[in-house]
Amino acid sequence: MMSAAVAVSDLRKTYSKPFSGKVVEAVGGVSFHVDEGESFAFLGPNGAGKTTTIKMLTGLIRPTSGTAKLLGNLIPSPQTMRDVGFLPENPYVYPYLTPREFVTMCAHLSGVPRGEVDLRVTKTIARVGMADAIDREVHKLSKGMTQRIGLAAALVHEPKLLILDEPMSGLDPVGRKDVRDLILEEKRLGRTVFFSTHVLADVEMLCDRVCILRKGKVAVEGKLSELLRDDTRRVEVVLENASVNLIDSMRAVGLAPRDIVNGVVVEVAGDALTRAVCEKAWAAGASVRGISQKRETLEDLFVREAL
Ligand SMILES: Nc1ncnc2c1ncn2[C@@H]1O[C@H](COP(=O)(O)OP(=O)(O)OP(=O)(O)O)[C@@H](O)[C@H]1O
Ligand SMILES: [Mg+2]
Repeated sequence: MMSAAVAVSDLRKTYSKPFSGKVVEAVGGVSFHVDEGESFAFLGPNGAGKTTTIKMLTGLIRPTSGTAKLLGNLIPSPQTMRDVGFLPENPYVYPYLTPREFVTMCAHLSGVPRGEVDLRVTKTIARVGMADAIDREVHKLSKGMTQRIGLAAALVHEPKLLILDEPMSGLDPVGRKDVRDLILEEKRLGRTVFFSTHVLADVEMLCDRVCILRKGKVAVEGKLSELLRDDTRRVEVVLENASVNLIDSMRAVGLAPRDIVNGVVVEVAGDALTRAVCEKAWAAGASVRGISQKRETLEDLFVREAL
């Protein structure tokens, strides 16, 4: 059996509001595990408790109750953090250092052997696509560039476990692809990647398993392939020039046409109903732009489970 790189057991964090004494439960008893070598996405709407969980795991805040282990060691464990690469939600990169100086400092702090530091720093900064800006002061860099330097700082000591809080945040489409490639490469090297994100399309490309938090609790956890309903009988029919009357008549028989740009989409189950919808549409002067088999996406799952 594979050992867990991250094992979280009934982790809770509450904050008491000043004066009123009211208690806010940011994380309310969360349990999950991430196997070694896995890429695992930690999802959930704004305020679900992702960052709070990550802060507990990385020792920035103390849990109110519950336990967690990183690489087999109970948190907080400063020693274990040497084998962990951490990208915080808002990475603080010293503004008056250059990327080379900042990442060099991080390499020293995380125990990279002295003789290897220079080479590792240039290699890692090149890996995050920042070679051209290696000697430019950080305060002169854009938001996405600063995010990349944060990522370089998390990677420079070649950690066994990466914990990334929204690594794609602030990145342009090319930057997002770079980070996706980087995560895949880390996975190929046998490392474990645990990351939070709102970019669900990326998760479908990258992850073995996901955990969706909802109001501080685990709503679903598991393999994507097992969580996504594969209802092959459901079909989406895309119509153009559908009149209001046609749409109303579909609603009257229990269908739910959805507006899209230049048309509507109707979801139906089974061949007979598909044909009936098409015939009804043609009879009403609309055209059928497409018929496609519906497969549930992570977005559907997210909307179903997280909201
Ligand atoms: N220091 C704090 N004091 C009081 N409440 C807090 C504190 N930090 C977080 N919270 C609350 O805990 C809840 C979870 O916040 P958290 O930052 O973990 O969410 P998140 O899932 O990371 O959201 P996002 O997707 O927006 O980053 C929120 O309701 C937040 O207001
Ligand atoms: Mg967050």
